Amino acid sequence: MKLLAFAGSSSKQSINKKLATYAAGLFENAETEILDLNDYELPLFSVDKEKLIGQPPIAKQFYEKIEQADILVISVAEHNAGMTAAFKNIYDWASRQKKLVFDNTPLLLMSTSPGGYGGRNSLEAAQLSLKRYGGNIRATFSLPSFNENFDVAANKISNPELDAELKSIIRNFDYGKET
Ligand SMILES: Cc1cc2nc3c(=O)[nH]c(=O)nc-3n(C[C@H](O)[C@H](O)[C@H](O)COP(=O)(O)O)c2cc1C
Repeated sequence: MKLLAFAGSSSKQSINKKLATYAAGLFENAETEILDLNDYELPLFSVDKEKLIGQPPIAKQFYEKIEQADILVISVAEHNAGMTAAFKNIYDWASRQKKLVFDNTPLLLMSTSPGGYGGRNSLEAAQLSLKRYGGNIRATFSLPSFNENFDVAANKISNPELDAELKSIIRNFDYGKET
């Protein structure tokens, strides 16, 4: 079972990448790949830019990674109460080549931020958007106050209740792909 995890962030120190990596490791019997959006950097999408450079192979590589996965774990960072430009940009480019970018692959959608709302605005924005573009969202999880609830040195959620909540979500995760 192939699991692809990534953060909706291009920060090199991304806390969402840390959360996505931790969550990915909780899936049993999964062959996990952690993708970094820095490897999928493209100019800011516009129809004019698209006319100029065509359909970039990097966008194809992005949706092909998703196509090859049986499970997706995505943790979206929040910028100004929405998804980051970095995530939206590769998503926009990919959607011009393949409309259902997220390929109906069973998806655990998460978010975290240093704030008490845990990036839930971005999570909600992603929920609304991704489910129209093949996002088969089977479960969501938001980790509030990352710095208080995640032990970076140990690479795990330090708050026992929140950790138990995520573990229960993953234990009960339905990864059967609808046809
Ligand atoms: C431009 C900008 C806007 C931000 N807006 C929000 C916000 O609306 N809500 C929030 O909880 N955090 C916000 N933050 C803080 C981010 O949640 C924080 O930088 C976090 O580390 C981003 O996740 P990442 O490390 O995975 O990139 C913002 C940060 C930046 C740089």
